[in-house]
Amino acid sequence: MKGSAKEQQKFSAFAPDKTSASNLAAGRSSLISLRRAAAGCQACDLWKNATQTVFGEGSPKAMIMFVGEQPGDREDLAGRPFVGPAGNLLGEALLEAGIDPVDIYVTNAVKHFKRAPSERGKRRIHKKPRYSEIQACRPWLDAEIRTMRPQVLVCLGATAAQSLLGKAFSVSRQRGQRIQSPLAAYVFATVHQSSILRAPDPASRKAQMQAFVADLKAIARVRSEILKARNGSRADHRGGNRLEPALS
Ligand code: URA
Repeated sequence: MKGSAKEQQKFSAFAPDKTSASNLAAGRSSLISLRRAAAGCQACDLWKNATQTVFGEGSPKAMIMFVGEQPGDREDLAGRPFVGPAGNLLGEALLEAGIDPVDIYVTNAVKHFKRAPSERGKRRIHKKPRYSEIQACRPWLDAEIRTMRPQVLVCLGATAAQSLLGKAFSVSRQRGQRIQSPLAAYVFATVHQSSILRAPDPASRKAQMQAFVADLKAIARVRSEILKARNGSRADHRGGNRLEPALS
């Protein structure tokens, strides 16, 4: 930067504080502007070894928001969430459950890839984020929820659930149950797809996939109920009974 030390000091007083996600997200009310701000986030150290911030993606009007853990290797390189094996599996399960991927928004609890240090220079293995990293990233998730106001919020795995529902939340005990939360009308938690990908044999993988699809089918039913109620109240309002198109 050019200019005297005094000028630089004056300038930095107006520069966004990249070390605080809540400062960067403050006052931004569109996903586009949040995504732009998140690109410079340095709220924890993960940005140092990651290629880029991987922000959420999908229709801003989506009724269902899925929250994963954090971008993997593929996502880190592509700059897009769920484009690797976990994303393919989610796509397959959504299809089976009858949820159109265009009706959803997908994001992560942590928005930078975390690489296992021992694997430097070799395969880019993902490492689970620490609680402090999850907390540092939470303002982005809050901002996405505030902006999108999804009717249905789905935590995929323990990291997302702990970020949004508290450290004591147990996915294995409460999976598939409706959770009372101020975050959205319907909040659910289910397993992360990576647990299915890690299944020890084809039979257990098949069983785990079926259980995951069953959780998604329950979410699809909730979506249908919401649409029915929405269409009903619109029809009542007009004194008619014609159905509105979904997600208008
Ligand atoms: N796993 C996640 O939780 N999120 C991604 O974006 C990819 C894999």
